[in-house]
Amino acid sequence: MIVLGINAYHADSSACILRNGELLAAVEEERFERIKHWAGFPTQSIKYCLGKAGVSIEEIDHIAMNRNPKANLLRKTWFVLRQRPSLALIKDRAQNASTVIDIKKTIAKEFGLPAEKLKAKISYVEHHIAHLASAFLVSPFEQAAVVSVDGFGDFVGAMWGIGSGNHLKVEEKIYFPHSLGLFYLAITQWLGFTQYGDEYKVMGLAAYGEPSEQSKMREIVKLNSSGQFGLNLRYFLHQVKGASMTFEAGEPQMGIVFSPEMERLLGPRRTPGEPITHRHEHIAASLQQRYEEALFHLLNYVYEQVKIPNLCLAGGCAMNSLANGKIFHRTPFKEVYIQAAAGDAGGAMGAAFHVWNQTLQHPRSFVLKSAYWGPQFSEAELSEAIDSRNNELVKSNCKIEKIDDKIALCRHTAQEIAAGKVVGWFQGRMEWGPRALGNRSILADPRKKEMKDILNERIKRRESFRPFAPSILLESVDEYFEQDYPDPFMIKVYMIRAEKRDLIPAVTHVDGTGRLQTVAEKDNPLYWRLIKEFEKITQVPVLLNTSFNENEPIVCHPQEALDCFLRTRMDVLVLGPYMIKRS
Ligand SMILES: [Fe+2]
Repeated sequence: MIVLGINAYHADSSACILRNGELLAAVEEERFERIKHWAGFPTQSIKYCLGKAGVSIEEIDHIAMNRNPKANLLRKTWFVLRQRPSLALIKDRAQNASTVIDIKKTIAKEFGLPAEKLKAKISYVEHHIAHLASAFLVSPFEQAAVVSVDGFGDFVGAMWGIGSGNHLKVEEKIYFPHSLGLFYLAITQWLGFTQYGDEYKVMGLAAYGEPSEQSKMREIVKLNSSGQFGLNLRYFLHQVKGASMTFEAGEPQMGIVFSPEMERLLGPRRTPGEPITHRHEHIAASLQQRYEEALFHLLNYVYEQVKIPNLCLAGGCAMNSLANGKIFHRTPFKEVYIQAAAGDAGGAMGAAFHVWNQTLQHPRSFVLKSAYWGPQFSEAELSEAIDSRNNELVKSNCKIEKIDDKIALCRHTAQEIAAGKVVGWFQGRMEWGPRALGNRSILADPRKKEMKDILNERIKRRESFRPFAPSILLESVDEYFEQDYPDPFMIKVYMIRAEKRDLIPAVTHVDGTGRLQTVAEKDNPLYWRLIKEFEKITQVPVLLNTSFNENEPIVCHPQEALDCFLRTRMDVLVLGPYMIKRS
């Protein structure tokens, strides 16, 4: 039986496909469309998934969406009657809901078929239930507390429940207009970061400040009994104007969600491009601290209710790696699982597994241990891509060498990295979720303090306050980090041991932390081998790993990797067995 999961008409549009409850492929549409967080209908992702499963769209048995416009209708009606939001907001939401409902029509149109040809049963899974499912149903736990926190989805800002076997039971919800994601978004906008998804920049900035504005943040977000939190709505606009996103050219955009009262409380907002002052750093640190207080307030309450040591976390806020790294210290949970695409893309996978396990009552048989579920290219395709760019490569004084022996390939690449070269590393299946995890990565030597500036100057051109992340051999985590717990998805930040910080300055953030990826030999043998070879040369089992891109979605196709290599000042590109070196 084939189940197709879809996240559509929402940021990070995506698709995944299951055969008999086993994931075969999962990918975000932005990688094909080449627009970050692309938010339309994921036609190309669906086509890729069908190809991977070797089936046509007519053969799909179930299509699962991570939205259910009919969910929480009573709440929505009550809100409309009580708050009287603008007519534009009501119309916009009704339009979005009807687009979601017309999914069969859309697929038929995109695939050039009459809708009657599609035998698939369509299931609409409430947004946060899909988030919960995306974490629990692919987790290694038989039982877990499951928590979802994000901006909004289907009129809910957070939800928690209990996962047991193949069943999820929802316990409580926090409804619109209250949302921690919205709180983070509002202050991110106040700080002058206005592009969709800019919250992660503020997380990087927070390390430079002191949480000196904590009392003001406590005025904005209140903590209530029952683990709940509530926004002080005088500082927000979304309850009146809506927090809906627009995505005309596919790129999602959010309107300003804070009210003029926010500027009276925090002072005038920073306009984009204005210099960043200590005051902005303190606001970022205060925001992060209040977010953590509210999150741990909820998590501790959930633990008290369920007394289960395992936690699964999902939703856009589960991408807050700073908070995630503190769960072990600030809550009684002993085991934590956050999958690679914890944000909205992952909702496609949650919806699909919800249908397979919960609706169709199949037992669980799949655990998501790695993130490598995207497109892969054969050696012939890589060679063809290189040949097609031969003239440009010659003009750039490039030497191309094919190294068939994998250990030799890793050794040569490690030598280049240890010699201070910036290396594009393109191997195997592309990563699912927002992080490059050693298959579409740019790699560099973490021992060189200046590497951050080199990468920013030559390729990434990011804000200087944003850190670069380490990939570390799983077996060496304890030696370098204060917390020894695997994180193959680079979704938690741990403290780097004080005595190791000077050894790996390029991946040590200003507060002594690192957002690590732990690399196990069984999950990615080639990447593990590469780090191992680097360790043999340098005695350091760590690489600096940043996504293979230049202000664009992570490269998917080898042509995009070659484009990025030729356009920037990357020194080496390793495409499968082919090593291309600028001389
Ligand atoms: Fe969400």
